[in-house]
Amino acid sequence: ATDPVKLMKQKVGKAAADLVKSGSIVGLGTGSTTAFAIQYIGERLKSGELKDIVGVPTSFQAEVLAKEYGIPLTTLDAIDHIDIAIDGADEVDPQKNLIKGGGAAHTREKVVDYLADQFIVVVDGGKLVDRLGSVFAVPVEVIPMAVTPVMRAVAKLGGKPELRMGVKKAGPVITDQGNMVIDVKFDSIDDPVNLEKTLNNIPGVLENGIFVNCADRVLIGEVKDGQPVVR
Ligand code: A5P
Repeated sequence: ATDPVKLMKQKVGKAAADLVKSGSIVGLGTGSTTAFAIQYIGERLKSGELKDIVGVPTSFQAEVLAKEYGIPLTTLDAIDHIDIAIDGADEVDPQKNLIKGGGAAHTREKVVDYLADQFIVVVDGGKLVDRLGSVFAVPVEVIPMAVTPVMRAVAKLGGKPELRMGVKKAGPVITDQGNMVIDVKFDSIDDPVNLEKTLNNIPGVLENGIFVNCADRVLIGEVKDGQPVVR
């Protein structure tokens, strides 16, 4: 038997890959759900069903996967727009606001996803919440010398800060930009629009994982009658 969450992620990743049209510039997101979208875009390219695709990776992970699946890559310096971006999320509220950054990639994801004409979010049903911050902490990318004052500043805002530590690494997680991540848990986020701005205004903060008014469509993977479906 295969893991049902993995089956949902696979199904939703494929559904997103099917939205990509020939000739497009595609933002390639980060995480285990988007990884399936990258895989299927590569397969559609290989079969000849898709032509002239170029990808903009949102992380080192996305770059490695795109290369593995044969998707040509470009950078933001070489293009003037992105047609479609596909990316995962850690929480999604009913207004399609998101918390991202579970993979510490939210800074580059925000740049790419906000530039896209169409931003498609791919999640399994377990990511849906009534209110942002219900389960997940807000990831905040911080330059290393500012970690201590930023932790104090977010605590003053009512958050519980925790410096993200590596799993198979001694010491803190280091982002693709060479910074650190503070995960800030709030009891409840009443005003995500303001919190996003307030966090980014703290000196030393590069970017936080709250994405508001950005997602155009959310594809949700679910299991119905034992089968993975997308809604
Ligand atoms: C990366 O920093 C995040 O924003 C991811 O997009 C998010 O963690 C989703 O990952 P999964 O699809 O693996 O849950």
